[in-house]
Amino acid sequence: MQDKINQYTADIKAFVTAKADELEAFRIKYLGTKGLVKDLFEEFKTVGPEEKRTFGKVLNEFKQLAEAKYNELKETQDSGPKTQDLKFDLTLPGEGLAVGSRHPLSLIRIEIIDIFKRLGFVVAEGPEIEDDWHNFSALNFPEEHPARDMQDTFFIKKNAGRDDIALRTHTSSVQVRMMENGKPPFRAIMPGRVYRNEAISARAHCFFHQVEGLYVDENVSFSDLKQTLYHFVQELYGDGTQVRFRPSYFPFTEPSAEMDISCTICKGAGCNMCKHSGWVEILGCGMVDPNVLENCGIDSKKYSGFAFGMGIERIANLKYVIRDLRLFSENDVRFLNQFKTEVI
Ligand code: DAH
Repeated sequence: MQDKINQYTADIKAFVTAKADELEAFRIKYLGTKGLVKDLFEEFKTVGPEEKRTFGKVLNEFKQLAEAKYNELKETQDSGPKTQDLKFDLTLPGEGLAVGSRHPLSLIRIEIIDIFKRLGFVVAEGPEIEDDWHNFSALNFPEEHPARDMQDTFFIKKNAGRDDIALRTHTSSVQVRMMENGKPPFRAIMPGRVYRNEAISARAHCFFHQVEGLYVDENVSFSDLKQTLYHFVQELYGDGTQVRFRPSYFPFTEPSAEMDISCTICKGAGCNMCKHSGWVEILGCGMVDPNVLENCGIDSKKYSGFAFGMGIERIANLKYVIRDLRLFSENDVRFLNQFKTEVI
């Protein structure tokens, strides 16, 4: 009897499982109505009085051990996972949580902000719903300028003139707010969403994003503008990227220019992205028109400045070789997941 108890005790101690069917077999084997504990108690009845004294205690301890083991395993099973239902290997490493990724336009915006911050520019923002003054008049747009036309601008309230309220068509409006509300020097970039009444296609959208730049101080010259933008392009697209400035016209700058960079995709050899010219335009810029400075209460005899404005989508298209603007606003995860490498 002692041998049997020793053997069963060792078996019970070695028994581990989280599986319900194995635990049930354990219960039947040891604690069931025809189980081994019961058998031992039956056997116990047949032994002599001498042995009864020795085995009484041993047998009770054995019964308690079997019950304790069963209860312990039952408890872990009730609170733990139902492993009998699991069809996979519990030792496999866990799967990572599916976290989102930054939108490509955010990645570019952050990169642009970082570059200008290192040059001492601060970030400023303004409202997307703007009045005529901040979006047009203060920026020296003549009354009859076509950009004020219903075709380009989403008007919210049209009162024919200075009281018009519209969705801003460019972030240049934030320049005006900044200059009206502060004192030079100004050195700021102003990212934001802008709206234009355009038919949606691969190349145009009714909303897109811009980053405006403004630098106003004493003795700011066109060469400061060129050097700043040249540095920006080297940082963003890599050393050796070429830039060229072409004369242009904007009502709020004089002189005005558009800046092209050597095509980052074909490196100037000619491709679809640069329409086989080797160059792509990435921004408009110029010296802030003295009228604009005066409109904002700044002495144009004392101060001068430069400004620039670029489309974030255009920059992203070139950086990531994206050919359809609509991808940016469709929220297709197959597109967005491609930008997942970035740590959030
Ligand atoms: N606001 C212009 C646009 O939306 C871009 C621009 C051009 C901004 C020249 C400027 C500038 O600040 O100086 O097309």
